[in-house]
Amino acid sequence: MIPLRRTMKTVLLRRLFRVALLFSVAVGPVAAAPGVAPRQSIVPGAIWPDDRGHHIQAHGGGILKLGDTYYWFGEDRGGEVTSKKPLERKVACYASKDLMNWELRNQVIRTGPPEPEIGSPFVFERPKVYHNAKTGKFVMYVHLDDKSYRLARVAVYVSDTVDGDYTFVRSFRPLGLESRDIGQFVDDDGSAYLIFESRPSKGFYIAKLSDDYLDVVEQTCFIKSPLEGGALVKYDGLYYMIGSWMTGWKPNNNQYATATSLAGPWSAFKDIAPKEKKTYGSQSTLMLKVVGSKKTSVIFMGDIWRPGNHQDGRYLWMPIEIGNGRLWLPEPREWTIDVATGETSFIERR
Ligand code: DGJ
Repeated sequence: MIPLRRTMKTVLLRRLFRVALLFSVAVGPVAAAPGVAPRQSIVPGAIWPDDRGHHIQAHGGGILKLGDTYYWFGEDRGGEVTSKKPLERKVACYASKDLMNWELRNQVIRTGPPEPEIGSPFVFERPKVYHNAKTGKFVMYVHLDDKSYRLARVAVYVSDTVDGDYTFVRSFRPLGLESRDIGQFVDDDGSAYLIFESRPSKGFYIAKLSDDYLDVVEQTCFIKSPLEGGALVKYDGLYYMIGSWMTGWKPNNNQYATATSLAGPWSAFKDIAPKEKKTYGSQSTLMLKVVGSKKTSVIFMGDIWRPGNHQDGRYLWMPIEIGNGRLWLPEPREWTIDVATGETSFIERR
């Protein structure tokens, strides 16, 4: 006879296994943990497990490519208590060679308010990392604010290695201006820019970084349109800028404009997707250009915020239709990418 305790344990284990199985079917194939097949696709809006099987924590993120490796930095909201502003802020760094399977490298920042006047809780959003070829340093910009978003500053952090611990340098208002949402852009000639929204001017700026990237030194352009979540890409000789209206955590119809020069003039802004779809519930954070042997693809990276439980925020990554002055975000669906060729394709499941 099988002892009762063992039978109950078996039943419990089976139930757990069934729940895990149901969960993995619901979220698609699990990331490449040891012994697990690598993920072959991106499912916009789904739970996106990292190499440990945990939902990726890189909200409001940015990407840096070094050699054949992509590094994804973003707000790590893991373990936050629902609807309470956290006292500690974290930035996570993930690495991938195929953009589908991501390995957690490090919580590169874990911090309380870096300066006493910030107070606690505080705001620490949209981290973006640049690599400075001259100094060899990795430089992070992040939107630093008090809990009421009144300070409107950037904080700068540095590290000697891409996924090492980042050290606080200082915080300031770029060009002396209020700065909230930030975005990053590196042009073909290697010049690095910070994009920042500035409410008093009812628009946003593209501004050049200093040679060592530790300062914001020159206004390249001011775009008088009250947009945030700025994301910029250069494609086929034309600059495309995406931004979202300012509706807090709620989604809206993100916009795009084009220009032949970063300094402008910029075209009028237009919807990137059907207006009523509100960017399919997401908000822009970056456009990632993947230059392959056969094709150059541009990926829209957006956040689907869950402000009541930030750690459950999702990612809407989709290849966009772009060219000849037109940009369009197609209806989200499962897709895959070959980073070597740059080709993307949609996956039909029946
Ligand atoms: C919209 C911004 O894009 C987010 O990063 C965040 O600051 C929210 N507003 C806060 O309401």
